Amino acid sequence: MLNWIESRTGFISMAKDFLTEDIPGGASYWYVFGSATIFAMVIQIVTGIFLTFFYAPSADTAWESTKAIYDNGFQHFVLSVHYWGASVMIGLVFLHLLQVVIWGAYKSPRELQWIVGVLLLLVTMVLGLSGYLLPWDMNAYFASQVAINLTQQAPLLGGFLLNFAQDGATMGTLTINRFFGLHVWLMPAALVGLVGAHLAIFRWNGPAGPPVEDPRPLKPGRFWPDQMFMDTVFSFGCFLLIVFLAWFFPPFLDAKADPTNSLFVPYPAWYFLDLFGLLNLVPGDLEVVGAIIIPGIATAILFLLPWIDRSTTRALGSRKFVLGLTFVSLAIMWSLTLWSQLSIMDKQAAAGPPAPPPQAAAPSTTSASTGNANGAKVFQTNCSSCHGAQGQGTPGAFPPLADNPVVTGDAKKVIGIVVGGLHGQISVNGASYNGMMPAWKGTLSNKDIADVITYIRTGLGKNSASAVTVKDVAAVH
Ligand code: HEC
Repeated sequence: MLNWIESRTGFISMAKDFLTEDIPGGASYWYVFGSATIFAMVIQIVTGIFLTFFYAPSADTAWESTKAIYDNGFQHFVLSVHYWGASVMIGLVFLHLLQVVIWGAYKSPRELQWIVGVLLLLVTMVLGLSGYLLPWDMNAYFASQVAINLTQQAPLLGGFLLNFAQDGATMGTLTINRFFGLHVWLMPAALVGLVGAHLAIFRWNGPAGPPVEDPRPLKPGRFWPDQMFMDTVFSFGCFLLIVFLAWFFPPFLDAKADPTNSLFVPYPAWYFLDLFGLLNLVPGDLEVVGAIIIPGIATAILFLLPWIDRSTTRALGSRKFVLGLTFVSLAIMWSLTLWSQLSIMDKQAAAGPPAPPPQAAAPSTTSASTGNANGAKVFQTNCSSCHGAQGQGTPGAFPPLADNPVVTGDAKKVIGIVVGGLHGQISVNGASYNGMMPAWKGTLSNKDIADVITYIRTGLGKNSASAVTVKDVAAVH
């Protein structure tokens, strides 16, 4: 059977060739970052394809379909894995690159492999950026707006890039489609193609090995089974980390994008915090310096590194300049990230908790719609501004309704709170709150009150308690 396949495809000898590759100095846990990055990429592709089955890219459906994904336990988990998978993948790309720099593995004859690697870093970052917009919630909208507006600063291409990314006078359905196309087609195709080229060039040159003057005296090892085992162990560890983060720290969906809310303070993904900080550091009329010139120079240095550092030695002791430059760059990136994080937290605190909805807008008159669709709608219009779109609350100000035992407890008590309001010190899952919950009697009809209570008892977090009827509400007041 194997002979039959071999004679028609050559696959068997290819696989043998692949597995018996020599590893200078033997297998090592130092070599696992590249293969783990590919593993993370595969997780992103699998979960990403799954999510496209449920996501609908348009201004009217992007947030709604994402919300539906959040509301379904399994889909929410897959989304969580995709969300954390992105962070882990970027972290791995970064570690891999850092190691190649420290070991001097970019040097001749591996210049092209290095260039393809830098392209892969850029493609991965564009994937992170384009995915960030897709949920179309407040943060997605305002964080992406920052990025889209920056494209204008690009020399010559500015107008074209802005037009391409936004595709229209304002951000809307066409923008979502552009980002969706980039995120699920163009960038993944580029990623897979470049990874193929990266590996093919890697096979041609072989691994560089540790940064010692002459690796030859070391006894070479084999890829199979030693290196393969180590790669698998490390990739599996990354997988466990992603599943752990996805399970215990699922992302939240903010309220649907509202372009008129000028108070919202967006926060970028952590891997863009340094760029974001840089932008905030430079004065407004010099935006092009923070947006284009400094990142442009940094990228150019990355691409040209094999020609900037032309010495043939890879020994750490004789490469003080490149290693020094690397650590200074890292220190600057870390400081910018930290500073950016702190300044965003300051701004968020200054913007304060979201304003309560105007009373006039409160009554919902959709008596025709029934059941939980109405409850969800009443909740988003009247309650989400304080309790959060997912009922997650705001620490210190508004209690969470998701996974809150009072909400899923005695229905009569919940009806009493929503009808009559609540103030005074309360404690939810160990945290205390002391605010004012408005009374909804007179503002919402009994039916809307019944529907919204049913919704908060069944539709938020892991809440699953009994439904509440109009009769139950009428009986309480
Ligand atoms: C203006 C902000 C605001 C709005 C709008 C709001 N709430 Fe509240 N809600 C609060 C605050 C503050 C508390 C905690 C009150 C306290 O500390 O005594 C609370 C408490 C609650 C509680 C009790 C939680 C517990 O653990 O005891 C429920 C249930 C609740 N809200 C449901 C709703 C529903 C349903 C709506 C929409 C119809 C709504 N809230 C709209 C601010 C708000």
